[in-house]
Parts: sequence; C-alpha cells; structure tokens
Amino acid sequence: MPSKLPYAGTTIFTVMSKLAADEGAFNLSQGYPSFDCSPKLTELVNHYMKHGFNQYAPMSGIPELRESLSEKTSRVYNVHYHPEEEVTIVSGATEAIFCAVTAVVYPGDEVILLEPAYDSYRPAVDLNGGKPVYVTLNAPDFKINWDKVKEKITPKTKAIMINSPHNPVGTVLSSQDLEELAAIVRDKDIYIISDEVYEHIVFDGEKHHSMMTHPVLRERSFVCGSFGKTYHMTGWKIGYCLAPKALTASFRQIHQFITFSTVTPMQHALADFLKEPEHYENLSQYYQQKRDRFIRAIKSSRFKFHPSKGSFFQIVSYKEITDEHDYDLAVRLTKEIKVASIPVSVFYKDKIDNKLLRFCFAKDDEMLDRAGEILCSL
Ligand SMILES: Cc1ncc(COP(=O)(O)O)c(C=O)c1O
Repeated sequence: MPSKLPYAGTTIFTVMSKLAADEGAFNLSQGYPSFDCSPKLTELVNHYMKHGFNQYAPMSGIPELRESLSEKTSRVYNVHYHPEEEVTIVSGATEAIFCAVTAVVYPGDEVILLEPAYDSYRPAVDLNGGKPVYVTLNAPDFKINWDKVKEKITPKTKAIMINSPHNPVGTVLSSQDLEELAAIVRDKDIYIISDEVYEHIVFDGEKHHSMMTHPVLRERSFVCGSFGKTYHMTGWKIGYCLAPKALTASFRQIHQFITFSTVTPMQHALADFLKEPEHYENLSQYYQQKRDRFIRAIKSSRFKFHPSKGSFFQIVSYKEITDEHDYDLAVRLTKEIKVASIPVSVFYKDKIDNKLLRFCFAKDDEMLDRAGEILCSL
C-alpha cells in the first residue's frame, strides 16, 4: 500500500533505543530520563485511581488542571491564559503540535520549518497537504538568520514552527530573536506553533523567552508544552496547548477527534502537583549539573562541543575522530563501545551530515560518568 509518509520509516529514536537494548549499551540516545518521577506524583495518581477518577475527562482537560496550569503560567511568565477558553490538556506535546498544525494548515499552505527540526513537524504539515519550507540553521552556533526566514515568507505562508530550547542542538532564543520574529509576522496572517517542551531546562543563568511573553507573538501562537519533560514521566504522554480563544476553539475541534480527552487520574495528580513550584524552579539547576557532569566526563575526549544552553541534549562534533557518516558512527558506537547516541543528520530533510552526534544527559550520574569514560577512549 502506498505510504502517505514515504520518507518516514521507523523513527530513529525507536531504532536506536532498540539497538541500545539489544546491545546492552548505555542509552544516551532517546530523550527520556533514566530516573523516576517524584513518588509524591505517583502516590497522587494512585489516590485518584483508587477514588474513582477513572472515566473520560472533559474534552479540554479537567478544570482543576487547566486552572493550575493557568496559575503557574501567570506565576512564571506573568501572562494570563483563561483556563476555560485558552488552555487545553492533550496527550503529549506531539498531539498539541499535530492539532495546532491541523487547525491552521490547508492544502497548499506553506509552513516554515527551521532545520534541524524535531521529527514530528514535517509529517504534521505533510498530512495536512501543507508544504514545508525549510530554513537551515548552520553549525556551530545554529543561530536563526531572520533575514533568511523573511526571504521565505510568501502570501501562502500560514505558519512558522519554533522550538526553544532546541532539540537536538540545545540553543535557546533570546528576547532579540522574539523581536525579530515579531517584526516579520506583525502585519501578516501568520501563526506561530511554538514547541516549548524544555521551557524549564535552561542553563547558565539564561532565561526561557516564551512566545507568550511578546504581545505580537502571543496573539498568534499555539504554545505547546509537555508535563513529561518537566516532571520526569515522559511515558504518561500528557501535554498542553496555550493559545488565544479563537485559536483554542479551532485547536479543540481537532483534538476532540484525535484523542478526545487525556488520561484522567494523571490530570488530577498534576493539578495538585503543579501548585508546588519547587520542582520546576529547580529543574534548570538539576539538569545543569547533569550537563556539566557529562561535559566534564568527555572533556579529555577528541569530541568538540559548545555546552548546551537548554534542553537535555548535548551535541558533539566528531570531525577529529573519523569521517564516517553520523548514522553509521552512531550504530557502530552502540555496537562496539556500547554507548548509544542519535545522529544529528536525521533532523534534516536532506540528511545533512555535519559529523555531529546528540547525547541525552537526562541520565543517572554513574551512567554519564561511565559513558563519558568510554567515549574518551575513542
Ligand atoms: C522538541 C520536542 N517536542 C516534542 C516532544 C514530544 O513531547 P511529548 O512526549 O509530550 O509528546 C519532544 C520529545 O522528545 C521533543 O523533544
């Protein structure tokens, strides 16, 4: 049967995680923590399950969680989203991104993607008959050249996808970036679909500049988030979308026919847990220690890198070690030295090989030390 996504195959994350498991390798490939979420959170889930919160949640999410999230958003960003009309709970940021794209993209519409790009963006655009239009970000700093973005705008441009902190390259947008983006879209009917799943993981005293903090951007943005990344429970697949009322109405029309609603007891647990800011307030510091531990461990290796500024990924250049293709190298390292990574070329449409590997440092300290030690032997 012909495929609607002939280029897609099995995602690299599945491929590398399986290979890592088969080979007994340290899995620094897929982006999930090797440690558990707070026991308090699982106790809350148990509590709600035992007390009968086991039927369908309301389509847009339980009111308690929408309210908690709205309060948290006001606290963190000083921006208000109305819990009834502007906050929607969905089954992971992946669903939020898909619903946002589906809500706005009609056949023939153009969507600007900055590559390297997270792998779910292009399929979402393609499945809606849209046309991805690429702007390539270049190594080593992967800064966005906004003039290039501007050159790609046409009357058919419907949306721009933004991701900060960035997976895979670990960059973060500055307030100047937001100004430049705002200047481009200010007088145009262009939506922003903003993937901010690593919003609470930003290093070296920097700050996350959410699309919602700029009035010109807030009014046209679908801000997509993930509780999984913030609370160390990626397997629960709970995310959300914050967007102005009219955008939320269109978003919910799609969401109600994709999953309809999201797992109930977890929503109740999160509604309670979100009221304690300590966890997300300390998250940057927590992950900065992990980043520093990993880069200390590979410091004497022949890999070259700039420390990640956000997310839980570190990319490294292996140009001085070998000229193998990054995919081949990632597979070989998993098999031979038992350390799994992700080749960065998979995040480019044309599989551009800049000789970069991505390592996830959301792992326990021993694993980071051991993996680093092994990588130094290359
Ligand atoms: C940039 C980015 N966006 C979205 C997601 C998906 O988030 P969720 O698991 O909440 O669907 C991920 C997960 O790795 C990610 O790295």
